[in-house]
Amino acid sequence: MGWWLNGGVWTMLMTMTIISFVHAEDPYRFFDWRVTYGNISPLGIPLKGILINGQYPGPDIYSVTNDNLIINVHNELDEPFLLSWNGVQMRKNSYQDGVYGTTCPIPPGKNYTYAIQVKDQIGSFFYFPSLAVHKAVGGFGGFRILSRPRIPVPFPEPAGDFTFLISDWFERDHKTLKALLDRGHKLPLPQGVLINGQGVIFSSSLTVHKGKTYRFRISNVGLQNTLNFRIHGHQMKLVEVEGTHTVQSMYTSLDIHVGQSYSVLVTMDQPDQDYDIVVSTKFAAKKLLVSSTIHYSNSRHNYKTSPSVHVEPPPPADELDWSIKQARSIRTNLTASGPRPNPQGSYHYGRIKISRTLILESSAALVHKKQRYAINGVSFVAADTPLKLADYFKIKGVFKVGSIPDKPRRGVGMRMDTSVMGANHRDFLEIIFQNREKVVQSYHLDGYSFWVVGMDRGTWSKASRREYNLRDAVSRSTTQVYPESWTTVYVALDNVGMWNFRSEYWARQYLGQQFYLRVYSSAHSLRDEYLLPKNALLCGRASNKQHTPIITP
Ligand SMILES: *[C@@H]1O[C@H](CO)[C@@H](O)[C@H](O)[C@H]1NC(C)=O
Ligand SMILES: *[C@@H]1O[C@H](CO)[C@@H](O)[C@H](O)[C@H]1NC(C)=O
Repeated sequence: MGWWLNGGVWTMLMTMTIISFVHAEDPYRFFDWRVTYGNISPLGIPLKGILINGQYPGPDIYSVTNDNLIINVHNELDEPFLLSWNGVQMRKNSYQDGVYGTTCPIPPGKNYTYAIQVKDQIGSFFYFPSLAVHKAVGGFGGFRILSRPRIPVPFPEPAGDFTFLISDWFERDHKTLKALLDRGHKLPLPQGVLINGQGVIFSSSLTVHKGKTYRFRISNVGLQNTLNFRIHGHQMKLVEVEGTHTVQSMYTSLDIHVGQSYSVLVTMDQPDQDYDIVVSTKFAAKKLLVSSTIHYSNSRHNYKTSPSVHVEPPPPADELDWSIKQARSIRTNLTASGPRPNPQGSYHYGRIKISRTLILESSAALVHKKQRYAINGVSFVAADTPLKLADYFKIKGVFKVGSIPDKPRRGVGMRMDTSVMGANHRDFLEIIFQNREKVVQSYHLDGYSFWVVGMDRGTWSKASRREYNLRDAVSRSTTQVYPESWTTVYVALDNVGMWNFRSEYWARQYLGQQFYLRVYSSAHSLRDEYLLPKNALLCGRASNKQHTPIITP
């Protein structure tokens, strides 16, 4: 074998021992999932959906910080399939991220076992199918990471803890939607809004006990609409946003952009009756609304037969300023503990020197008469081989680092490329999302969470830095950018790998508004990044490669 026991290899072997030791200490949880087609009928009309173990939405993942999750996914569809984990960081392990650029699709009839450690994380997230437009018809579910037993949580244990996956719904199967996008069209307007896959009013009810407090974990798993969430007669106390314990403020309604997750506490302190949970579209051409019911256990009303109590709470004013104000009010509770027993605020992100500034600007254009979207003028196109595998096996010609610029370039047209931006491990980035379009945007970075330090209307300039919150901004993985506005995030590049940076608006992502951030360390140490998993599927130009790493002196 070509093994040379030089210093590098020793370090590697020792690190491997340490890693397996750490993994062995932490509990394992096993999941065996069958992915199939099945009828779903959110608005009463049956349509082909994507089920996990027969369920739509799929089962929730329950885990505790540092757990090892072994998820064997059997693809019983007639097309390739992958799951990805929105907001779950896959530390040192972008191979398991389950997006086109990191992981080979699971072929029809085959399976792949994800091995994920939810290292040093807590919070409410979701998983979703990342290929084609599968996400439109299911394959998603809640993903919660609970604090370890001795780590204090900044609120009393709730009487119940419920997942609310909210989404827009297009009333077409995923292949029809994909064909529309492939032909260069936009998505049609949605036909409804769903709560946990249901769009028919009175279709579900949650029984609660008066006086008790419940936790609701709400994620927008839809394709493109900002959704507003509210509960008639009740205030919501915001406690957590994508892994950050927040200052516990009260809200009567919350704007939740595509890909975002929030958790709130709701105390059932109203007279015994039924109350609506209402989800409606915001900033949308089409007003859509759905409700489900909270049923107080002592209430004599039966939600199925008494629509008279079905009073719709008024939607909040549909204004930008209201929404921006709300977004700015969401802050980190600096004294609450994070996943480790140290205050979240002990890491002063506001005092770290910025090593690089990116300005990311979206655009929409027709290319060869087909709708495309871009970031900094580059519209992403997939290569024939996952980028991470090309990197690992050093296959040339799949992508070029630097194929997307750090800043927008004026006066040049849109270009199609497999855009990969290079960045150094331990860089500290300031990323400005400039939105010159008239739509709300939502951006997500895999493998990381970032501090959302500022957002405002208009064009960002150096003076905008004076508006930044450098003290208690929330750290999260998905941020909105309002129409004709900017948002700035800070991110510490402490996770080596190939990470998808994407619009969470699915049609935009699918038609090019994404790229990969290649966070690179020349040390090539197992302390920074794991090896390709033994069971990794190989495809494209990596099909004939050997799994065993070739180590040369
Ligand atoms: C597929 O599932 C089998 C067990 O059903 C398992 O032994 C095998 O490792 C899985 N394959 C992959 C690539 O994970
Ligand atoms: C922040 O967390 C602390 C510690 O758990 C808690 O006592 C306090 O009430 C929280 N403060 C706010 C404003 O949410």
